[in-house]
Amino acid sequence: MCSDRASASTTVELDDIQFGMIHQRPASYVGAYLLLRIDDRQAGRKLVKRLLPVIESARSSSDPAQHAWVSVAFTYQGLKALGVPQDSLDSFAPEFRQGMAARAAELGDVGESSPDHWEKPLGSPDVHVALSVLSPDAARLESLLERARRAHEELAGVELIWHQDCYQLPTGRTSFGFKDGIGQPAMEGTGVPGSGAGERPIKAGEFILGYPDETGSTGPVPTPEVLGLNGTYLAFRKLHTRVAAYRQYLRAKAASREEEALLGAKMVGRWPSGAPLALCPERDDPGLGRDPDRNNRFGYGDDLRGFKCPAGAHTRRANPRDALDHEMSADVRLHRMFRRGTSYGPMLPEGVLEDDGADRGIIFVFVGAHPKRQFEFVKTQWLNDGIFIGAPAEKDPLAGANDGSGTFTVPQRPIRRRLGNLPPFVTTRGGEYCFAPGIRALRWLAELDIRND
Ligand code: HEM
Repeated sequence: MCSDRASASTTVELDDIQFGMIHQRPASYVGAYLLLRIDDRQAGRKLVKRLLPVIESARSSSDPAQHAWVSVAFTYQGLKALGVPQDSLDSFAPEFRQGMAARAAELGDVGESSPDHWEKPLGSPDVHVALSVLSPDAARLESLLERARRAHEELAGVELIWHQDCYQLPTGRTSFGFKDGIGQPAMEGTGVPGSGAGERPIKAGEFILGYPDETGSTGPVPTPEVLGLNGTYLAFRKLHTRVAAYRQYLRAKAASREEEALLGAKMVGRWPSGAPLALCPERDDPGLGRDPDRNNRFGYGDDLRGFKCPAGAHTRRANPRDALDHEMSADVRLHRMFRRGTSYGPMLPEGVLEDDGADRGIIFVFVGAHPKRQFEFVKTQWLNDGIFIGAPAEKDPLAGANDGSGTFTVPQRPIRRRLGNLPPFVTTRGGEYCFAPGIRALRWLAELDIRND
C-alpha cells in the first residue's frame, strides 16, 4: 500500500503522531495510568473528542522535561465499543485482536503469571481505553489529571476501572536497583536522538504505521487509512518484581558483597549505575553510568564468549547488538523497540532482604509497529528461550519465565560458573495490547457516528 509514502520514507508526519510515542520521558517524572470502560458508544466518542485538546502531537516540543502530557490508546475491545466497523477491526494485527491474555501461553505468562491470577480488570474484555498522564512534577500532574478527569467524568457510559500511579526516580533506577531506560533506538525522520551511539537510526515503519520499515515494505496498516496511519501498537504489562527474593538469591550464591554485586550485574548486563559490563567488566563505574555519550557506546563483538557480559544477561538477550553471526546481525534491527518502562510501588530500602509484602515493580510499555516480531519475538525467542545463544535450557535470569529449576551461565576462566534453581523474580500481574492512533485518527474516531450509525 501507499507507494507514495514509501518513496518519501523520511518525511514523518510528526504533527499527526502522539507525543508520547516518539519522545522519551524526562529523567524523572510522576504519572498515572488510567483504564476506562466504554458502556455507551456515543459517550465513548465524546470522551475521545474531549481528550483531543489534551493530546499533544510529536511536533509539540523537543524537551519533555518542560511539560506534562497525556497519551491515549485503545484495546481491540475498545475500538469495537466505539463502533469501529468489523472490516476495519479485522485489519489490525492478529495479536492485538486476540488481546494479551489470549497470548499468555506463548508469552510465558503461566503459573503465578497466568491471566487467572491477574489483577482485575487487567486482561479482561472490560479494558477499552488506556490513558497515561505524565509530568515532571506533582503539581502539573494534578492539573493534567484534572483535565483528563473532566474528559471522562459526568459522561454516563464511560467508567474509570483502574488507576495505577507510577514514577521515575531522578537516578533512573527501578526496583531491582538498576538504572533502566538507557538503551533506546533512534527513529529515522524524527530528529529525536536515540541512545545508541553506533546504531544507525531505525526506519520509521518499525515504530509508526504507514512508513517503510527495515524490510523495505510499508504495512500492513489497519484500514481505513485515516485510522491506521501514524498509529502504533503498545504492549502494556504490569510486572511485579520480587526484590527480596532476588537479593536473597544473590546473597546465597555469593561469597562476598563484591561477588554479590558482580553476579547481579552479570544477570542484567549493566551495573546498577547503568555502566555496561561490556565496558567495565570488573566493577561499577558511576561516572560512565551517568554519561549518556558513553554509557551506550558498545557492542559485544569483541566478547563473543561472554567473559565480560554473559550471552544470557538480560540486556544482551534483549538486544544482542553485534553478537549474533553476520547474517543474523541484520535481523537485530527487526526486533528493536521503544520502551517506556516506569516504576510503581515503593522501593524496598537498600540492604533489606526480607519481603515487606508491598506490591512494587515496573509498568513495562513497548511501542512498535510490529508487536509479533518485536515485542513477542524478543520475549519468547530471546528472553524465554536460549537456543539463539546455544543454551536452550536457559531463560533470562531476571525477566525470563523461570520456575525455580532454571540455570544461568557466567563464563569465566578457568571454568564457567553455573547458577542454578532460578526462581521467578518477575511475575506478570496483567497486561494488554493497545493501539495508539494518530491525531487525525482520533478525530475520525470521535466523529464516527456521523458516518456509521
Ligand atoms: C521487570 C522486568 C524487567 C526489568 C526489571 C528490566 C530491566 C532492564 C534494565 C535494568 C535494563 C538496562 C538499561 C537499559 O539498557 O536501558 C534493561 C534493558 C532492556 N530491556 Fe528490560 N527489563 C524488564 C523486562 C523487559 C522485557 C519484558 C523486555 C522485552 C520484551 C525488555 C527489553 C529490554 C530492552 C530491549 C533493553 C535494552 C537493551 C539494549 O539496548 O542494550 N525488558 N531492562
